[in-house]
Amino acid sequence: MKRFEKIYEGKAKALYTTGNPDMLIQYFKDDATAFDGKKKGIIPEKGILNNKISSRIFKYLEGRGVATHFVDMPTEREMVVKKLKIVPIEVVVRNIAAGSLSKRMGVDEGAPLKETIIEFYYKSDPLGDPMINEYHIRAFGLAQTSDLRKMEATALKVNTHLSGFFSERGITLVDFKLEFGIHKGEILLGDEITPDGCRLWDKETGEKMDKDRFRRDLGKVEEGYQEVLRRVLG
Ligand code: TMP
Ligand code: ASP
Repeated sequence: MKRFEKIYEGKAKALYTTGNPDMLIQYFKDDATAFDGKKKGIIPEKGILNNKISSRIFKYLEGRGVATHFVDMPTEREMVVKKLKIVPIEVVVRNIAAGSLSKRMGVDEGAPLKETIIEFYYKSDPLGDPMINEYHIRAFGLAQTSDLRKMEATALKVNTHLSGFFSERGITLVDFKLEFGIHKGEILLGDEITPDGCRLWDKETGEKMDKDRFRRDLGKVEEGYQEVLRRVLG
């Protein structure tokens, strides 16, 4: 499948039309940003690593009954996906306190939670993706209530499957972000599932294997992603 016209370019990926009006190509770049784009850099080979990681994970989830936009991985940096109308909400699932939750609640990173937390953020770069709740989603018409319920249920199902998937590979799934979209009336899991949007800690050592290595200048960023890919394929 050939890439035609670039219709969107984000921080880590670009989207292209294809010969099929129902399909797009999602192209994975090496660019990395953090803190609403204030920090910029390149993680060598990240595009290739993330495409391979995400493709494997989408296939795994599809096999467990999660409907995703994934169709095929024709090349190292390209993923063929079903064209989505993106729901402008980022769904974050948290199993362990870290990142902005630790800051907001004043708890140590790594603190256990009595139950899994789901959070919603309004997808808006100029606003810096503010946190919202279900009232905001209804009041601003960001999603149908029935779609929101499906997104929530899917997020929890993804969490169950991926927590197990990573655990078998010696990795703790601390938290992650999902995006959804509508394709032919059906709500599908979209975007990517990669160390850019997940916190992944080595189960034995607690070492971070995700984008926090870049955000916090911890070094060995590419090595972290490479190790995730190695284990995800293993
Ligand atoms: P946070 O602790 O910074 O709110 O991040 C929670 C999770 O969501 C973490 O795994 C990283 C992911 N995430 C994104 O994918 N994109 C974002 O813009 C942010 C803020 C977080
Ligand atoms: N990707 C977001 C940004 O570029 C935030 C992050 O992942 O830390 O700001």
